[in-house]
Amino acid sequence: MDSRVSARALTAALGGWRTREPAYEALADGIRLLCLDNRLAPRTALPAERELAASLHVSRSTVAAAYRSLRDTGHIASVRGSGSETLPLGRRDTGRVASTEGAIDLQQASPPAWPGLAGVVSEVAGQAAALVARVGYDVLGRSDLRGAIAEHYTRRGIPTDASEVIVTTGAQSAIHLLASVLLGRGDRVLIETPTYPHAADAFRRAGARLVGVPVTAAEGWDMDRAEQALARTLPVAAYLMPDFQNPTGRSMTPEDRTIMLAAAERAGTVVILDETTADLDIDRGWVAPAFLHGEPGSVVRLGSLGKTVWGGLRVGWIRGEADLIRRLVAARSTQDLGTPEFEQAVAAALLPRFAEIVAQRSHLLRTGRDAAIAALHSALPEWTVPTPSGGVSLWIELDAPLSSALVMHVRSRGLLLSAGSRFAVDGGHDRHLRLPFTAPTDQLERAAAILAEAWPRVRGGAPVAAVEQLEAVV
Ligand SMILES: Cc1ncc(COP(=O)(O)O)c(C=O)c1O
Repeated sequence: MDSRVSARALTAALGGWRTREPAYEALADGIRLLCLDNRLAPRTALPAERELAASLHVSRSTVAAAYRSLRDTGHIASVRGSGSETLPLGRRDTGRVASTEGAIDLQQASPPAWPGLAGVVSEVAGQAAALVARVGYDVLGRSDLRGAIAEHYTRRGIPTDASEVIVTTGAQSAIHLLASVLLGRGDRVLIETPTYPHAADAFRRAGARLVGVPVTAAEGWDMDRAEQALARTLPVAAYLMPDFQNPTGRSMTPEDRTIMLAAAERAGTVVILDETTADLDIDRGWVAPAFLHGEPGSVVRLGSLGKTVWGGLRVGWIRGEADLIRRLVAARSTQDLGTPEFEQAVAAALLPRFAEIVAQRSHLLRTGRDAAIAALHSALPEWTVPTPSGGVSLWIELDAPLSSALVMHVRSRGLLLSAGSRFAVDGGHDRHLRLPFTAPTDQLERAAAILAEAWPRVRGGAPVAAVEQLEAVV
């Protein structure tokens, strides 16, 4: 057994799990969803039946029956003398879930590759002899690419020198590297909720304690909460997405940016700005770059070509003061030995064409956003569907906190989605569903039709009052 989940943590992760009768099947479904989302990693020890029953306020026989159902479907196994543990995916019976082949997969918001990418890849391949003559191991990044990234910031109004840039293997590795260098066990990190879940996981893995600040699609950031949390908990770092936040698509107002930065400076907090989605503007327009005052010491930016060009490129970066860059370089080798040369050369050739790339992206995202909104408005008028001015997804408000049950239900109809709770920092968000609009229009329309067909059934199967009560507990 590799790790263990406590009854309290499992209760929080399950959120409003009681979505149908019998209760033991609803509980088993909730645990299956956590396995599918990889929030319960394989070989995680589950709490003893008695402890989980007490934490969930259900009888021990309900938990015992849920564990039995999970054993029947191959999601967990009993280990003699040490309770039950989750099993690796391959060993699970997918009988309740349609095969993922031919499914509409909207679990990730990954736009298709920018159409000019193949041409740039071919051009760079023409220089292969010169490329492979290089050493290849380089934890800092190619100097031409670091120069191009520095220029990219300078063009945005953020004067930058190449010595303030390190190239990473995508934004995720940038987050991981920052977490390992900036955070120690027990340190606090201020983070939006909902947020990009792999960042939250990376901070948790570094031992950090997360302090959530709510962001809504309708209202944006709860700035009172943010200011109070910064002043009260003095977090070591704040991880924020001020432009087209994933998943809400909201952008901070200029005033929010000023208030947040001033409060972070008072608290001595390093502000980590994740700008992976910052260039995905559909119809917002230009906003003065965030958090300029106080740079470079207290503000660290990270970015990536994953959403603007292609997720398969795996090129990201961090911009920070030169001393931080040196610390990141020193720490990096335990994580990886550099970003592949070929991808870096491709990235260096792409950055001068950035304006053209984001214009195409804007067009693609507008088409997807408008198609998804139109389909949902007509199929599910009872849902509150926002119109984000950029980003990659709709953060939809359902008229009942049944996101997890809905996600389980449509899975068996060949539609793969992530439940709202996946984006939560400290439980909740079961009233929300993230729908990426990066997929082709026909898939988005089909997805809306599947959701509309499923929703009355999911809603009909749930004693909603009881569910709301439960959600308020976590
Ligand atoms: C906000 C945010 N940060 C980071 C990442 C990870 O990006 P990359 O693919 O460059 O690792 C993503 C990808 O979904 C994202 O949405």
